[in-house]
Amino acid sequence: MKVRGVVRPPGDKSISHRAVMLAGLARGTSELEGLLTGADVKSTARVLRQLGAKISMIRGGGKVAVHASRLSHPASRLNCGNSGTTARLMLGILAGQPFPATLTGDASLRRRPMRRVTEPLRAMGADIEERGGDALPLTIRGGRLRALTYTTPVASAQIKSALLFAGLTGKVAVTIREPYRSRDHTERLFVHLGLGLHERQGAIVYEPSARPDISPFRLVIPGDASSAAFLVAAAVLAEGGELVIENVGVNPTRTGFLVVLGRMGARVERVNLRDEGGEPVADLVARPAALRGTEVSAADVPTLVDEVPVLAVLASRAAVGSETVFREVGELRVKESNRLELIAANLRAVGAEAEARGNDLFVCGTKRPPRGRIDTARDHRLAMAFAVLGTVPGADVRLSERRSVAISYPRFFHDLRSLQET
Ligand code: S3P
Repeated sequence: MKVRGVVRPPGDKSISHRAVMLAGLARGTSELEGLLTGADVKSTARVLRQLGAKISMIRGGGKVAVHASRLSHPASRLNCGNSGTTARLMLGILAGQPFPATLTGDASLRRRPMRRVTEPLRAMGADIEERGGDALPLTIRGGRLRALTYTTPVASAQIKSALLFAGLTGKVAVTIREPYRSRDHTERLFVHLGLGLHERQGAIVYEPSARPDISPFRLVIPGDASSAAFLVAAAVLAEGGELVIENVGVNPTRTGFLVVLGRMGARVERVNLRDEGGEPVADLVARPAALRGTEVSAADVPTLVDEVPVLAVLASRAAVGSETVFREVGELRVKESNRLELIAANLRAVGAEAEARGNDLFVCGTKRPPRGRIDTARDHRLAMAFAVLGTVPGADVRLSERRSVAISYPRFFHDLRSLQET
C-alpha cells in the first residue's frame, strides 16, 4: 500500500471538552470552531445542557454556540457515556456548585476509578457519596470549598483539571504538583482566558481573581494529535508515498509519539507552525520508514498515554527480533478498556510477540503478515490501532467491531481509506 494526499484529523478531544465546559461556565454566548463531533464531546454537551447551558447542535464544519448564565440543579442523573474526561472534570465543576447532582456512565466508564478525583475534592470540602465503591455512580454536593495544595499520585491531566475547575467554580486557590507533567490544555486555556493561573517552583497554581465572572469567548480548536497519530502510523507502515496531515495540535505534552517515532527511525516533519488559542499547531508530513525497537520511559508515558496502542502496533512491525519496551504503563489498565492486557493479547492473536509483565509492556518486531481476530472491547483506540495494522501487505485483521471509533474520530475509516493508493 502507498499513501498520498492531505488529511485533516478531527478537533482535539481534550481541548473540546475543556472549551465546552469553560463556555458553559461563562456568562454570555461563546463560539467554538473546530470542535470534535465525537460521542465523548457530545456527552459533555449533554451534561451541560442538563445543567442549564444552551448549546447548539455539534456537527461537522459549523461553529457551536454555547449560551450560559449560571448552572442549575439537574432534573435527572448526568450520563457521561463513555467519557472519563466528562465524568472527572464535571466532578470538579460540580464541587463548586450549590446543588447536588448524580453522575453515571456506560458499563466501561462505571468500571473506571474515581477516587483519584473524589479524594482531593473531599479534602476541598465537597460531599461525595459512593454507590458502589471506587466508581460511578456518584452523588456530589458541592458548596463552600477550601483551598488545596496537592501532589497527584499519578500524572493525570484529568485529576489536575478537575481540581483546577473546582478552584475556579469554588473560587479558592489550588496548588498542584504532579510526578511528571501531564497534558496542560486546561492550564493553557485558563491563561488564554485570563483566569489567574501560573507556575510557581514547578507547581501549577490557580488563584481566583477579583473579577468573578468568566467572559464569553471565541476559540478555534486544533486537530487532535492523538487522532493524527493513527494517520501518521499508516503512512509509516506504507510501502511508498507521502501523507500530509493538516492542522494538528503539537503541544509538547501531547506529541511524545513523534519523539518516540524518531527514535524508532521515522522522522515526521512539522511545517507551517502557528498558534491557535494558546496552543501550537502545525501540519505534519509523514513518510514510510524502516523501524527499530526502542525503550519508552515512565517520563515519556504521559506525553503519549493514548498513543501506546498504535505505538505498540508499530513496534510489532519493527526489524525482526528488535524489542520495544514501554515502562510503567499500568495506567492503561484503567482506560476505556484494560488496554495493557488487550494490546498484548491482540498482538499475539495476529501472530506477533507481545507481553505485559507487571506494569511494563514488551513488543517484538516481526515481518510475518498480521492475521487474526481483534477483540476491541469497544475501545476506540484499540479499534483504530489495529485497523492501521490491517493496512500492511498480506494482512488479514478482523475487528470485533468498528463503531467505537465514533467516540473520538467518527470519520476514521473514511480517512484511512482515502489516504491509501493501491
Ligand atoms: C485526558 C487525559 C488522559 C487521556 C484521556 C484524556 C484529558 O487521561 O488518557 O484520553 O482530556 O484530560 P489521564 O489524565 O487520566 O491520564
